[in-house]
Amino acid sequence: MNVYDGQRIAAMLEHHGFIQTDNVADADIILLNTCAVRAKATDKVYSALGRIRLAKKPDAIYGIIGCVARESGSDAFRKIKDLNFVLGPQSYHKLPEILSDPDNKLLDINLGGIEKFDELPPISTSPLVAYIPVQEGCNHCCTYCIVPYTRGPEISRPFSDIMAETMHAADIGAIEICFLGQNVNGYKFTDESGKTYKLSDVIQETAKIDSVKRIRFTSSYPTEMTDDLINLFGHEKKLLPFLNMPIQSGSDNILKKMNRQYNIDEYMALINKFKTVCPDIQISSDFIVGFPGESNEDFEQTCDIAKRVGYINSYSFKYSPRPHTAAAIMQNQIPENIKSERLIKLDSILNDRQREFNLFCVDKTFDCLYEGPDKTGTHQIYRTPYMQPCIVTSNTPSPMARIKITSANKSCLHGKIID
Ligand code: 5AD
Ligand code: SF4
Repeated sequence: MNVYDGQRIAAMLEHHGFIQTDNVADADIILLNTCAVRAKATDKVYSALGRIRLAKKPDAIYGIIGCVARESGSDAFRKIKDLNFVLGPQSYHKLPEILSDPDNKLLDINLGGIEKFDELPPISTSPLVAYIPVQEGCNHCCTYCIVPYTRGPEISRPFSDIMAETMHAADIGAIEICFLGQNVNGYKFTDESGKTYKLSDVIQETAKIDSVKRIRFTSSYPTEMTDDLINLFGHEKKLLPFLNMPIQSGSDNILKKMNRQYNIDEYMALINKFKTVCPDIQISSDFIVGFPGESNEDFEQTCDIAKRVGYINSYSFKYSPRPHTAAAIMQNQIPENIKSERLIKLDSILNDRQREFNLFCVDKTFDCLYEGPDKTGTHQIYRTPYMQPCIVTSNTPSPMARIKITSANKSCLHGKIID
């Protein structure tokens, strides 16, 4: 979501005559687009602001945008006195106000509107992957999560707006569309004629666009998986057989305390449903270890479920207490050293499975999407349908290529393009 917001902000500033620079000392305006989901992310923002303050030109204006702006509000101005603007995730389209009045301070962390989508100029060239938000905010009050506070309640965008933005992205170069939302499969929009659209409608309409070859979405909430969406994995060839469906914990006891609205049996039944309609599907997940009250036994259940599902790629985090969340004031917070030990143990299970799946892909052939050159500039990186990076050598990279996998390790594949 932040990548998308960043592209829209960049397009808006280009519209005002700015050009991008990587060098802080050259910049006339500097903004940090921020994430508040864990405390570490928030801390990084303030240390980066300190560095920017020293490096920037004296009259350059700077500020923060996004969830840390929403979390900090006017406190940000107290912490960093000469900061110029603090704009929440639904107010960044107001940035031009500070350009016309740079001596002022601009604070807007209001929620409840998605006018930003309408007020920003569209992007003029698209990367091969276009991120298109279908909804913003979240109505699931997971007790650890700051997102319902920072991004607010769920708002689904009009179907026609999503399709217009998707077609525009395809027209200007996108080959893969990734639909976004904090609760993406909760997307539901009823138009003036009373017709209701769901995520499956958005995907099917997008699949009709010839130049779009791959479709995916993130991030899903398990209990909002409806049969229309599950069945699409069985017959919509452009929908990648790769699904991000966070489980967070393998213990029913902890899931309840997290206010996740499913238990492990229900989650496993859902996975089986996906595997029945699409035997090739692979799943990725998010995990939190060290949630308040998590016993050794609860944690072992998380390790068990990680092995049982066999996720091919996951994100795992130590629980981080966040303001405005119920879990931050729960009893039995877990000491940092135990969280760290558990994270290492879980990661080793997740990494083993990731390596195993990558090795399983050797000798298989996939249609892959070009991502860009590697760091050395001598090889090209493509993405398989399972989003694994695949390194190849070719003189003329093309947007899509058929690649035979020749070798693999935990983090990437190597392959050669076949005609
Ligand atoms: N501490 C640790 N991880 C968190 N996440 C959300 N809130 C927290 C928190 N307080 C993780 C969840 C979510 C991902 C985006 O971030 O796993 O799925
Ligand atoms: Fe946060 Fe996701 Fe839970 Fe919503 S569903 S509260 S975004 S973890």
